Amino acid sequence: MILVTGDIHGCADIGKLSAKANPVQKLMTKEDFLIIAGDFGLVWNNDAEDLWWRKWLDMKPYTTLFIDGNHENFNLLETFEEVEYCGGKAHRIGNSIYHLKRGEMFELQGKKFFTMGGAESHDKEFRELGTSIWEQELPSDEEYAHALATLEKNDWKTDYVLTHCAPSSIQHEIAVKLGLKNEYPDNKLNAFLEEIGKKIDYKAWFSGHYHTDMTSEIEPSFNVLFNKIVKI
Ligand SMILES: [Fe+2]
Repeated sequence: MILVTGDIHGCADIGKLSAKANPVQKLMTKEDFLIIAGDFGLVWNNDAEDLWWRKWLDMKPYTTLFIDGNHENFNLLETFEEVEYCGGKAHRIGNSIYHLKRGEMFELQGKKFFTMGGAESHDKEFRELGTSIWEQELPSDEEYAHALATLEKNDWKTDYVLTHCAPSSIQHEIAVKLGLKNEYPDNKLNAFLEEIGKKIDYKAWFSGHYHTDMTSEIEPSFNVLFNKIVKI
């Protein structure tokens, strides 16, 4: 079984993963996966709270995977061991917690997942560089080039796309629906996702970031997740 959900922001929005809120986990094993579409936030400062909740996740019956969002401590994330995991590069965060790096292709239970984390914070004025916001929240030129090379290598075919933010046109529609048109200006990553989205052959795309659930409301294959946990 593979489940996908949206941002958890450390322990702030982790309640959706409780046994009561997500009872299907009783049927899962460590061979099954729960994927968080960015803003994991439990690699924030490695304090007692981070460690307690990471242990809580490690004790879940499933394996937890996440792509990065914008609210991650990227400097700390980069200190974790990089491993080859299910066909792609990941950071091993715990015994059964992995960060899926940008521009990688993973194979989980016979399905391919292309990953491209990152997003632009829209509350920058309230954040301090290196403490609560990091330059790496948006991909580097090398990461964009790596993503293109990975897609090329895979003939632009995947089963699923996992990103934190959405392609430009979809982000625009989300913002209009939410009445937040000015909060999500277009950036290089949105434009990049727009371009690759035209070319990739995929079944479904999952994003987080917008703190709302819109499954197939904008496009049949596009899902914005926050509280919803989707089984794929
Ligand atoms: Fe978020």
